[in-house]
Amino acid sequence: MTLTLSDQAPFAQGGNRLCFVHPEDPGRCVKVRRPDFSLADRRRKKGFPKNLKPLSSFDDNLEEARVMASLEHRYGDRAFRHISRCFGFVDTDMGRGLVSELIRDSDGAIAQTLKKVLWDEGFTDECRSAVETLSTFWEREAIPSRDLLLHNIVVQRADGGGIQRLVVIDGLGSAGLVPAHWLPIAAQRRKAARKTSNLLQRIDTLIGQRGQETFPGYHGLLLHDDRPEHPNQQHPGGSAPHD
Ligand SMILES: Nc1ncnc2c1ncn2[C@@H]1O[C@H](COP(=O)(O)OP(=O)(O)OP(=O)(O)O)[C@@H](O)[C@H]1O
Ligand SMILES: [Mg+2]
Repeated sequence: MTLTLSDQAPFAQGGNRLCFVHPEDPGRCVKVRRPDFSLADRRRKKGFPKNLKPLSSFDDNLEEARVMASLEHRYGDRAFRHISRCFGFVDTDMGRGLVSELIRDSDGAIAQTLKKVLWDEGFTDECRSAVETLSTFWEREAIPSRDLLLHNIVVQRADGGGIQRLVVIDGLGSAGLVPAHWLPIAAQRRKAARKTSNLLQRIDTLIGQRGQETFPGYHGLLLHDDRPEHPNQQHPGGSAPHD
């Protein structure tokens, strides 16, 4: 079965993937490669020596599916307190797609990124405490991740608009050659703690930019939030692929 995605607008795009609401399940999303930025383009952009690696090693969907399966195996259900679930691959008319849990607020809107929430509201006490909860979880469970970027974390809202939890939707796994779980647990925890401390620095930097007029970059804005009664169309400027 091939899912048709090309007749709907993606709700978001990252540097590498377009994200669509799953046409048959509003609780899931499907991520496909951006047609304007192929794997070969991505490899070319890396330069020597990284461009010697096989094309498949540049595929975020493959990497994400692999890492999510290993997280589930290692941590069971508790990994998904702060990480979106992954349901494997489907064929689509825009190439192979990875199906993941779509994080929505309790009113049905697609959750906004931490970057957007910080930009709109600043680093409120409530948000600070949500970041602390995520960081404690990350360090305690020693979750292997790349840098925790503000557009790869979404803020899920409960009834009444309070923050229910932060969920990491991208950037799992480790960039290193040695699988993270081969390291002693203390080293894994130190690695995770470096990621959470960098996250705080990134938050500080964004808060420092709040005086400027426009949202920095285009990552982290939704193209629509999938609520027909509250269309929230935002057209982020610029779309140069970024890695
Ligand atoms: N599971 C999800 N639930 C809610 N929103 C999501 C989900 N996955 C992605 N998004 C939204 O789509 C955007 C882009 O998704 P994603 O980060 O997976 O793309 P990418 O191209 O891999 O990103 P990058 O630029 O970091 O490489 C996110 O910033 C987020 O706003
Ligand atoms: Mg991303």
